[in-house]
Amino acid sequence: MESTIPRNEIPAIIDVSFEDLMRDPYPIYKRAQALGPVVRIEAANLLLVTRFEDIVAIERDPATFSSDNPESNVVKLFGPNLMRKDGEAHQRERKAIEPTVRPGTATRCWGPALEGIVDEVISAFERDGEADLFDALAAPISGRALAAIVGFEDVSWQTIAAWSQGMMDGAGNYSGDPKLTARALEVSREIEEAVDRNCPRLLDAPDESLLSSMLQSGLSTKEIYGNTKVAVGGGYNEPRDAILSLIYGLLLNPDQKEKVLANPALWQPAFEEAVRWISPIGMYPRLLTRDVDLGGHILPKGTQIGLSVAAANHEEPRFEAPQEYNAFRSKTPHLAFGSGPHFCAGTWVARIMVTKVVAPQVFARLANLRLKNPDLVTVRGWVFRGPTSLPVVWDV
Ligand code: HEM
Repeated sequence: MESTIPRNEIPAIIDVSFEDLMRDPYPIYKRAQALGPVVRIEAANLLLVTRFEDIVAIERDPATFSSDNPESNVVKLFGPNLMRKDGEAHQRERKAIEPTVRPGTATRCWGPALEGIVDEVISAFERDGEADLFDALAAPISGRALAAIVGFEDVSWQTIAAWSQGMMDGAGNYSGDPKLTARALEVSREIEEAVDRNCPRLLDAPDESLLSSMLQSGLSTKEIYGNTKVAVGGGYNEPRDAILSLIYGLLLNPDQKEKVLANPALWQPAFEEAVRWISPIGMYPRLLTRDVDLGGHILPKGTQIGLSVAAANHEEPRFEAPQEYNAFRSKTPHLAFGSGPHFCAGTWVARIMVTKVVAPQVFARLANLRLKNPDLVTVRGWVFRGPTSLPVVWDV
């Protein structure tokens, strides 16, 4: 925390532990939404904004609620990057990666590239009749897809997964554990080395990868390093978790599953509902550039707040029975991809990956797919949340 918060004036939730948040943050968010527009969550040492309209309004005012925080762990450990910049500096780098992530590229290039990856991954376990889809399916697909999108020809999905974990641990290392800092710096160095190895090839033969787009647009080596790390940290676990949540939601609701399987156009709403239901990124930070009145509480300049999009995506009555997966709920926008200038750059890549390739192939290839035992499924996390185990069986 940057500044002294007038703690007595802001409602606080002090009777939940960090473990409570990790296990199931939604009842805590519901309490926070009832308490006011900004609530101190003691276990996370954070001021949280949880209401839908408040988050949308905040994201419309980046001059006041800045993404630029040089003191954040992300910037200190991994260097400056587009996610922690505002205004023109942000726009310039965002434009540089646009050719890789725009819907046309996702459809023409990444969808077909993923077909082969998904085929190989499913073929490896298809005859087993049972698997945990976290390890067998979602982790390798998401890691291999990201390596291709970034332009890393020589990086395995296991390495992508390990880097992503090291980055998340480093970014969330608020207690300053030296082991986590050392690991994060090691990951940072390894990613830079992979960039250095792959760039000469892409300079000779440009393609549609992220590295190639950044090289073509003339970003500096430092900018390329920073943005590649953001892509590794932000482009691996979210699609992995979204794939699993979508499959889990449909397996819990066979009637919905049947309707979606009968009409491919329904994969899109089924996917949007999955990321609303269990938002892969539950919370992200903003820094106040001036004193701000939030619902009668004056927050001083320099205060860091967390925007809980996961809470907003369960706000009632905007979302009826929000804890239930319902691919057929009325079309209400959600905030799982954020909002405003930093709206997820990978939205279309993720949508096309999951709705056009991964989910249809999974249900087409694994006949009569069903949960092995609903009690064995685990879902965990609050800043990042998703199924951590999804044991299933199918007919062989
Ligand atoms: C279901 C999958 C995904 C979800 C739910 C998701 C969610 C988000 C969210 C909430 C943000 C905003 C963070 C902030 O403002 O601090 C974000 C930003 C970002 N995401 Fe994603 N993401 C997903 C997939 C991806 C993929 C596949 C990629 C890369 C290929 C990606 C690349 C990025 C980048 C580069 C940013 C920063 C954008 C900017 O600052 O302008 N994301 N994502």
